[in-house]
Amino acid sequence: MPLTGIYGPDDFANRPQGQIITSPRAAPARTGSPLPMPSLEWTPEVERATAPLYDRVKHVIPPIEWPLMAPTIKAINELKRARGAVILAHNYQAPEIFHCVADIGGDSLQLAVEATKVKADIIVQCGVHFMAETSKLLNPDKTVLIPDTRAGCSLAASITGADVRLLREKFPGVPVVAYVNTSAEVKAEVDICCTSSNAVQVVESLGAPSVIFLPDRYLATYVASKTDVKIIAWKGACEVHERFTGEELRSYREADPSVQIIAHPECPPDVLAEADFTGSTAHMINWVRERRPRRLVMITECSMADNVRAELPDVEMLRPCNICPHMKRITLANILESLLTLREEVTIDPALAERARRSVERMINLKN
Ligand code: 13P
Ligand code: SF4
Repeated sequence: MPLTGIYGPDDFANRPQGQIITSPRAAPARTGSPLPMPSLEWTPEVERATAPLYDRVKHVIPPIEWPLMAPTIKAINELKRARGAVILAHNYQAPEIFHCVADIGGDSLQLAVEATKVKADIIVQCGVHFMAETSKLLNPDKTVLIPDTRAGCSLAASITGADVRLLREKFPGVPVVAYVNTSAEVKAEVDICCTSSNAVQVVESLGAPSVIFLPDRYLATYVASKTDVKIIAWKGACEVHERFTGEELRSYREADPSVQIIAHPECPPDVLAEADFTGSTAHMINWVRERRPRRLVMITECSMADNVRAELPDVEMLRPCNICPHMKRITLANILESLLTLREEVTIDPALAERARRSVERMINLKN
């Protein structure tokens, strides 16, 4: 069914003006002692120690580039152990991060679920800020670090807690579902969170005839196409996925009718209409593992194709992809820096965190 309504900042004359809060400010640096910078020289010992890791990425990282990365990878892995830290990485992280330093990789839902099980005292989140906030919400007593606090998200930046309150005033009694790509401030105002893996299930779990679904207008449109629940949406969009077009996809098929095309549900409807499969990043990866297409176009962020190709080199990836500039703020260099200095620590006001945690936990506790 089409969206029942779509609202944005311009639809509320009484909307508070001012800066959109994408996330609380990073805390001042921990006062723990910074560790000295390890040697980052490429030596025969580094080559030997990192050879098994290079094996994982040899199909996507040229041999000439490895000596530039390997010393930092080795240093990160050693420091991680020394600090008692765990590294969580989203599927959009570059292969040298995803395959060589991360302890746990996955989509937003998998990372949120894994975050509830972490034993380590320190979590380094290789992803964007809302992901680090979600880890902090689920681990209030642990130190959660993000290597670059500027790693934001156009969806999280599109809506504030005040906007959610205005929507609630306009639609009294209608439950609100927030995509996890939102700030803790927004999560604190909603009934439940969802990810692209479980959005339809979450919406239907509420048993309501109408649901406010925010902030991604395209994910909302996709959900509306899969359910009889009436969906009221917000005008946010992912700056990476909204740039793909259906016309572009048709041209790939014309060039090679045997090509398979899979797309993330943050893409516009004309793109999804051309895709052979639509799913979250984890669902897309599983689809490729099971189907093993000969030639594939992944309509999503570029590193995902690299990460899949590292694992499945027999799948030929055509490369129409877009880079998420926020995800790419996380680098080996700033992960190392983060472990050395324990910066930047993610903090959330405890009262706000309490309310935001409830909507994330309600999602996690939903039965499959
Ligand atoms: P997934 O939950 O599918 O990993 O998506 C997160 C995201 O930011 C996609 O742009
Ligand atoms: Fe946000 Fe889009 Fe980047 Fe995902 S890909 S983090 S939704 S801007």
